[in-house]
Amino acid sequence: MAQFEDSFQRKFYYLRLSLTDVCNFKCTYCLPDGYKTEDKRPQFLSLPEIQRVVTAFANCGTSKVRLTGGEPSLRRDFSDIIHLVSSTPGIDKVAMTTNGFRLEKSAFEWRQAGLTNINVSVDSLDPRMFHQITGENKFRQVMRGIEQALAVGFSQIKVNVVLLKGLNDRQLPAFLNWIRDLPIQLRFIELMQTGEMDHFFHRHHVSGQSVYQQLQQDGWIPKVRACHDGPAKVLTHPDYQGEIGFIMPYEKDFCTSCNRLRVSAKGKLHLCLFGESGIELRDLLQHDDQQSALIERIQYGLGEKAVSHFLHDGDSGMTPHLASIGG
Ligand code: 5AD
Ligand code: SF4
Repeated sequence: MAQFEDSFQRKFYYLRLSLTDVCNFKCTYCLPDGYKTEDKRPQFLSLPEIQRVVTAFANCGTSKVRLTGGEPSLRRDFSDIIHLVSSTPGIDKVAMTTNGFRLEKSAFEWRQAGLTNINVSVDSLDPRMFHQITGENKFRQVMRGIEQALAVGFSQIKVNVVLLKGLNDRQLPAFLNWIRDLPIQLRFIELMQTGEMDHFFHRHHVSGQSVYQQLQQDGWIPKVRACHDGPAKVLTHPDYQGEIGFIMPYEKDFCTSCNRLRVSAKGKLHLCLFGESGIELRDLLQHDDQQSALIERIQYGLGEKAVSHFLHDGDSGMTPHLASIGG
C-alpha cells in the first residue's frame, strides 16, 4: 500500500494518537484551571476504533506510535491499548508521553504489554517550583517513577522540560547534574502559544537558542541527525551519559523534518499541532471493511498539509491547549 506522503515529499512514519483529553495535572501553560468539559460522558476512541486507525497507518508506512493525551494512563484500558498497538504488524515502537504520576506503579506492567519508549514531563527539579508549575505536589512521586522505569529496563527515558523565563530558566546546572550518570535525554521545549494563553506566553516565553549556544560553548556537541529523526536538535557530551534535545518550533525550518501526524482522542486527524479543526475519521472506524475508504480520506487530507505552521504571525490555529491534541 502507498506510503503516507504530503505534497512536500515529507513521509509520515510516526503517529501520535491521543487516548483522552482528560488530565489530572494543571500545568500553567496547558490546563491552568485543570481539565474541564461540558461533555458529561466524553466518548474517546474505543479499543476496536484504535485498532482500526493504527492498522490503517501501519499499512501505509507508520512504524512508530506515540500514545498521548491529556494523560493517557488515566485510561483504565491503557495496558490493553499498549498491547493492541504493539502487536499490530508493522509497528515496532510504542511510546507514551506522560506526566509520570502512575509510572512508579505501572512501568513494569506497561513494559510487559509492549511499551518501548517513555517521555515524562518534569519542568523543574525543585519540588516547590514543580508544584507551582503543574499544580500538583507530585515531584517525588514522578522522580521515583523515572527511577522505576529505568529499573524495569526502559533504556533511555526522555524528559520534557518546557523552558519558562522567570521560572525554571535558572535550573540548567541542576538539570545537567542530574543527567551526568543517567541515560536520560532532556528535551528543552520552547513554550508555544496556544489559543487559551496570551499573557502567560508573553511573560514566560524564552528562546532555546541561547541555552543551546551556551551548552555548545561548554563542550556539548551536536549529534548527527539520522534520516528518520524529527525536528529536535540533540547535543551530547563525553562526560555525560545523558543527552539534551531542543525543540524550537520558532526556528526557521523547524517544519522541514516533520514526520508525524496526529489523531485526537475523538478520532480527528490533525495535520499540524497548530493547524485546523481536524479531519473527521471516526465514521470510518466503525467496521473492518472501511479500511480503504479510511486510507483514502487520510491521503486526501495530506494533500492539504501546509509547508509550515504560522506561529510567527501569532497565529496558533485553533488549538486551545495541547491537552486537546496531545503535544
Ligand atoms: N508549549 C510547549 N510545550 C507544551 N506542552 C504542553 N503545552 C505546551 C506548550 N504550550 C508539553 C508538555 C508535555 C508535552 C506533551 O507537551 O510539557 O511535555
Ligand atoms: Fe496534563 Fe500534560 Fe497538560 Fe500538564 S502539559 S496539564 S500533564 S496534559
